[in-house]
Amino acid sequence: MPKSAQKFARLLTEGVHRIRLREAKTIQLVQDELGYALGREGESAIEYWRKGHLPPYLADVEKLARIMVERGRLEREWLEQFLSSAGHPTPEALCEELFPLGQGNLRPVLLDDRPLLAEFNPFVVGPPIMHPRHFFGRDYELKRIFGLWRRFPLQNVAIIGLRRSGKTSLLHYLQKITTVPPDQLRPGQPRDWLPQPDRYRWIFVDFQDARMGRRESLLRYLLAGLHLPVPEPCDLERFMDVVSQRLRQPAIILLDEISAALASPELDEQFWGSMRSLGSNLTGGNLAFLLTAHQAPAEVAEAQGKPSPFFNIFGHSFVLGPLKETEARELIASSPQPFAPAEVEWILGQSKNWPCLLQALCHARLTALEYGELSDAWQQEGLQQIAAYSYLLS
Ligand SMILES: Nc1ncnc2c1ncn2[C@@H]1O[C@H](COP(=O)(O)OP(=O)(O)O)[C@@H](O)[C@H]1O
Ligand SMILES: [Mg+2]
Repeated sequence: MPKSAQKFARLLTEGVHRIRLREAKTIQLVQDELGYALGREGESAIEYWRKGHLPPYLADVEKLARIMVERGRLEREWLEQFLSSAGHPTPEALCEELFPLGQGNLRPVLLDDRPLLAEFNPFVVGPPIMHPRHFFGRDYELKRIFGLWRRFPLQNVAIIGLRRSGKTSLLHYLQKITTVPPDQLRPGQPRDWLPQPDRYRWIFVDFQDARMGRRESLLRYLLAGLHLPVPEPCDLERFMDVVSQRLRQPAIILLDEISAALASPELDEQFWGSMRSLGSNLTGGNLAFLLTAHQAPAEVAEAQGKPSPFFNIFGHSFVLGPLKETEARELIASSPQPFAPAEVEWILGQSKNWPCLLQALCHARLTALEYGELSDAWQQEGLQQIAAYSYLLS
């Protein structure tokens, strides 16, 4: 197939839509993330290519192809055409690598199986919940947190909880639930939490990603997420100028694992001081932070030798405990094969309604059912699985 910018644009658009549907995100966010993965700022590169321009470097085309095949579960045929339309001289090589012969046409070699598991496995054991459909409960927290973001000024929130209590899952849910298409949700799952959800910008910062601990990459990432231009050089002063002068839309910055951020030497007192100014008086109430921590943020910062007035702007904190019993029952009842009433009670009793324990025990039960195993060995297996998290129960 000859090189064709139009064809490339059409395939790219198809791929972006597939990812958007699979991950329940907006097109803007998907474009942002793809652009960011290629080391670009914001969504403009992807947007530009979708308008009928070819990327100048084949390395970018290949990188984009790998990410899109994986995240969108795109087929071999798409990949082949995508590469050829961009003028790739040897599309077969990458096609062979991602779709080895004998493994069928549909199942690429996956770099990361999380999106697939989240889609097909009714119970998610291990990774945080990425898709709103798999998220249960936290009704109390959702009402109160969205209540703080429905009106101006937007207010800052701290989510406090033990390891595996469900902090990261909650962040993903907050970010996605208001814009996810209703047909991707369970019946009766509320999504109309905000008056004009499309106007909000969401930026998820995972401080376990080493790049986020470097000041300049973090500032660039934040600007990309805010859809603001990136100044050169991108230092703290110029960043502050751009955000305080140009932010016109409500924006929520989700800072996951603040203790990892505090361990970074580049994120120093001056950095946190500037974030405080942005959050409190430079953006006209348009910007809020939400952070997660294992204990009160000011205490965490103190303990890590980085006290900062930034941590005093978190006036609202929520401690994540187990789910309510009704919420836990709803999670269990989502099993595609129903569990016997006594099994449901056993799972509730052993998990004390902690979502990660519920997930592991439900998974053990469902697996045994699917293999037609009649004994109660699944209970032993389940207990072994959750033994590492006994600190949640004490
Ligand atoms: N609201 C929820 N609904 C369903 N499962 C949840 C929920 N919150 C957490 N989980 C489960 O708990 C596990 C740990 O959650 P995670 O968000 O990674 O916790 P943390 O970030 O606090 O360590 C996830 O793998 C998921 O299975
Ligand atoms: Mg987490």
